[in-house]
Amino acid sequence: MTNVIDGNAVADGIRADLEDCVDTLGDAGVTPGLATVLVGDDPASETYVSMKQRDCEEIGMNGIHVELDGDAAPDELYDTIADLNDDSSVHGYLVQDPVPDQIDYREVIRRISPAKDVDGFHPENVGRLVAGDARFKPCTPHGVQKLLDAADVDPEGKDVTIVGRSRIVGKPLANLLVQKTDGGNATVTVCHSRTEDLADKTRRADIVVAAVGAPELVDGSMLSDDTTVIDVGVNRVDADTEKGYELVGDVEFDSAKEKASAITPVPGGVGPMTRAMLLYNTVKAASQQEDVDVSLP
Ligand code: GUN
Repeated sequence: MTNVIDGNAVADGIRADLEDCVDTLGDAGVTPGLATVLVGDDPASETYVSMKQRDCEEIGMNGIHVELDGDAAPDELYDTIADLNDDSSVHGYLVQDPVPDQIDYREVIRRISPAKDVDGFHPENVGRLVAGDARFKPCTPHGVQKLLDAADVDPEGKDVTIVGRSRIVGKPLANLLVQKTDGGNATVTVCHSRTEDLADKTRRADIVVAAVGAPELVDGSMLSDDTTVIDVGVNRVDADTEKGYELVGDVEFDSAKEKASAITPVPGGVGPMTRAMLLYNTVKAASQQEDVDVSLP
């Protein structure tokens, strides 16, 4: 029987443990604070940040939301960033990507204080991750590691094929999985749009992580028996539903499930983990900045 990995249940467990950490910080007079910054009114981004804010409230953290107009000048955003860097009640924050064209997201990231960069996107934090000394593991790759652990799949010695080389998922996940630590020690292949014979690479893998943003690109014919399949994709495709669309992953679930020993669904797999790991990083940031020890899950 294929194990359909329940990301909601794993995320619930992590959130419950983080709530204990929030209580410990509370005993020391500290409420962890997470700020989200949204520039413009992209509907998907609005949904994502409101979920992140709701997550904060649910475990007793302070959620702060800042919204700027879609035509805001870069300096306006830089001033907001400078204020958040200086605000001691904000332990972590993020600027939701994408930002409008007049703003250079790379410059935005460079201005975020690395100590508050709970996305783990700042060059200093990327460097630390690659060096094996991560301050904040980026949320989605960290969530994937936690899901593998929850499914009792140890990457050590395994062949992992990651489909996708994004800054947010593919590249940091490859770095995490090759590290000489628990949850690492894998042999990693990173595939992308110029990869020749993708199916050959996925068939060789013990673990396939699809994170490319292409609806149902990976199907069962591209997998060997007993593969673990982690689907990071969330794609809106037209459908005869009330909203006019449905969400599908980068993996064709039904055919992949026939081959996989374990697989994550979309929705309800990686998505809830990404949000839980953002709370994790914020609790970690608060613990570091306020010098209060907590037992992170
Ligand atoms: N947009 C989509 N995913 C993310 C994320 O993880 N962080 C930020 N800041 N923006 C995003």
